[in-house]
Amino acid sequence: MTTYRHPVIALSTSKGGAGKTTMSIALAAVFADWGYRIAMIDTDPQQSLMDWSLKPGKPEFIDVFSAEDEDVLIDLIEACKKSHQITLIDVQGRVSELGNTAMAWADLVLIPVQASAFDAAGASNTIATIRRVERARRTEIPFSTVLNRVPAAIASRTLLSVREAFDESGIEILTSLVDREAYRVMTAAGGTIYTLDKSQAPGLDKAKLECETLAIAVSAKLGLIDPADADIEQELA
Ligand SMILES: Nc1ncnc2c1ncn2[C@@H]1O[C@H](COP(=O)(O)OP(=O)(O)OP(=O)(O)O)[C@@H](O)[C@H]1O
Ligand SMILES: [Mg+2]
Repeated sequence: MTTYRHPVIALSTSKGGAGKTTMSIALAAVFADWGYRIAMIDTDPQQSLMDWSLKPGKPEFIDVFSAEDEDVLIDLIEACKKSHQITLIDVQGRVSELGNTAMAWADLVLIPVQASAFDAAGASNTIATIRRVERARRTEIPFSTVLNRVPAAIASRTLLSVREAFDESGIEILTSLVDREAYRVMTAAGGTIYTLDKSQAPGLDKAKLECETLAIAVSAKLGLIDPADADIEQELA
């Protein structure tokens, strides 16, 4: 199995509002909580991730950068791969050369799919873009979809049929995040699932659990090494 020492993960889908920024923050929060030093790169002109980073509650282990063009993005990725253990790239919600560059550099592309809309189309378009980038750059780009905003009250049978529909179209679903106030508060007010308190954000414990499940699934995909065994100072020495 391939293991990545300082992997790059891009969150991408051509569908706006599917949860790229939210999921990138949630994932970064878990990795930082585990002790990894995380770089996040905002490539979206909306700068939602940058806005979040300026609000209170950003963990010390997370550094957020902004890349407005491909040259800056590539320079940043190269630098972050040296200075941080995991780099997450938040991509804008439409096909762009900047987004394609992020995909080309990614060891894993995560595609959030809004479950409430049962929307496989956004994922299919993104996968088609990944295929084009793979052909143009003659490289394989691993990807996974993650269901987002799954209605809390959805019957497990309904969820199962969504998964089956995806399976039939050959799209693997890695795991899912439920539609929770905790995520809305996190993106709007700043902080992470570990810094919010229960009175602000109902469902916080469940949110933590599902984000940790997502992070474990991503770690398994990337063969991530334990942060305790990957001391950044030592590696750079
Ligand atoms: N699991 C969730 N539960 C509740 N709200 C969510 C969840 N995921 C995302 N949201 C909310 O949905 C909105 C859109 O999410 P987000 O900004 O992460 O999407 P995006 O894919 O980054 O959008 P864009 O394409 O505009 O960059 C935000 O208000 C966010 O708080
Ligand atoms: Mg966004």
